[in-house]
Amino acid sequence: MKWNSRLMETWEWNAPIVNEKQKQKVASRVASFVKEGDVIGVGSGSTSYMALQAIARRVKEEHLNIQAIPTSQEMMLFCIQAEIPVTTLEVQIPDWSFDGADEVDPDHNLIKGRGGAMFKEKLMILASPRTYIMVDRSKIVSTLGLNFPVPVEVFPSAIRVVEREMEYLSPSSVHLRTGNGKDGPVITENGNLILDVWFRDIPISLEKDIKAIPGVVESGLFMGYKNIGIVHD
Ligand code: A5P
Repeated sequence: MKWNSRLMETWEWNAPIVNEKQKQKVASRVASFVKEGDVIGVGSGSTSYMALQAIARRVKEEHLNIQAIPTSQEMMLFCIQAEIPVTTLEVQIPDWSFDGADEVDPDHNLIKGRGGAMFKEKLMILASPRTYIMVDRSKIVSTLGLNFPVPVEVFPSAIRVVEREMEYLSPSSVHLRTGNGKDGPVITENGNLILDVWFRDIPISLEKDIKAIPGVVESGLFMGYKNIGIVHD
């Protein structure tokens, strides 16, 4: 028996999409990669949302059977709305994945996590043989950290310890991310807090150095991942 849900019919992306046309272009390109029977890792953010919509249109028109592994509650709801069957990383390995990014440097190192979903996004990229990172040209930078801070997900009671230990990595500033639609800090889907940390310089070792701080769950730095392909407009 199926739910008869108005909530799902009216659920939609909740903010204006910056560079919508460019994002639509890369989203459509990635949707064209879908094949019958694929298990696909679904990243988060507005570009991933647009790719999922384009995939859902193909699934309906071509009667494709695919499964999705979403990286956030938001994408899980959009999969349900699009009637794309959902599975999990515990059950299946994705054939491939797609995701967005906030910044991409010439060596394809990334900053991700404006949406706060970098923990599951990183798991998905590690699990997938190939992940397509969709970006419009505004995301392509000469060096990481120009336009975005590095988001760091922190276990709540470790926040002061992490703030102190982070100082050894010489950040230019550290901010606790606050929420829209709620008072106080953003609480991630894993029940944690997010520090947005600005660095003047992001060496290749920084991802591991941040992760080595006790209390850090994950960061939005993706340095040297060989299994990603950049799709840009
Ligand atoms: C989600 O947590 C993020 O990693 C997004 O993939 C990234 O912030 C890009 O977002 P947009 O596609 O909305 O620009």
